[in-house]
Amino acid sequence: MSNHQPVRLAIFASGSGSNFEAIVHAFQTEQCHAEVALLVCDRPDAFVLKRAETLGIPSVAIRPKSFDSKEGYEQEVLNELKAASIDLIILAGYMRIVGKTLLKAYPNKLMNIHPSLLPNYPGRQGIQDAFEDGATETGVTVHIVDEGIDTGPILAQETVAIEPDDTIESLERKIHAVEHELFPKVIHTYIKKLQKEHA
Ligand code: GRF
Repeated sequence: MSNHQPVRLAIFASGSGSNFEAIVHAFQTEQCHAEVALLVCDRPDAFVLKRAETLGIPSVAIRPKSFDSKEGYEQEVLNELKAASIDLIILAGYMRIVGKTLLKAYPNKLMNIHPSLLPNYPGRQGIQDAFEDGATETGVTVHIVDEGIDTGPILAQETVAIEPDDTIESLERKIHAVEHELFPKVIHTYIKKLQKEHA
């Protein structure tokens, strides 16, 4: 990563991609020396690929099932990241556990967003788990990715209240609204920190 070239971000996503879109918009307008250079998607039918097309962001869809092993899949992903000169990976609704191949290639350069106040409610259904547990608050966490599931150093958290009249749908909407504001800001701050370290 050099201070003269824009930081090149790859976003990994598996589903709808509302966070992907929020990040793309934020980095188009923000005075930040960074750009979303690639979408990596593990599900060829995911809606996020359509969003990328509309937004003019290059994308690759790579099916893990086409490979004999997780290493083989991640090596192919890594080839695409290298070809696109990616500096930083952003997981935004990427429904896979990142393996050694990518963790080794991008140490401290992998960031994730999770829809709960970690360490509470890790895993695939953070919103539902908090709601069904009867919690009165939950939230959003942005963290650096390590080999665990939703573990790794926390960069930022924001609380979301669960009101008595909330439904799972209304809670989801509130959480997404917070995510779309928080995630680009935290990415921006982290890039500034990395750039300072390289100055
Ligand atoms: C978000 O709630 C994120 O926290 C979680 O997956 C969801 C992705 O939503 N990891 P979207 O695809 O960005 O709309």
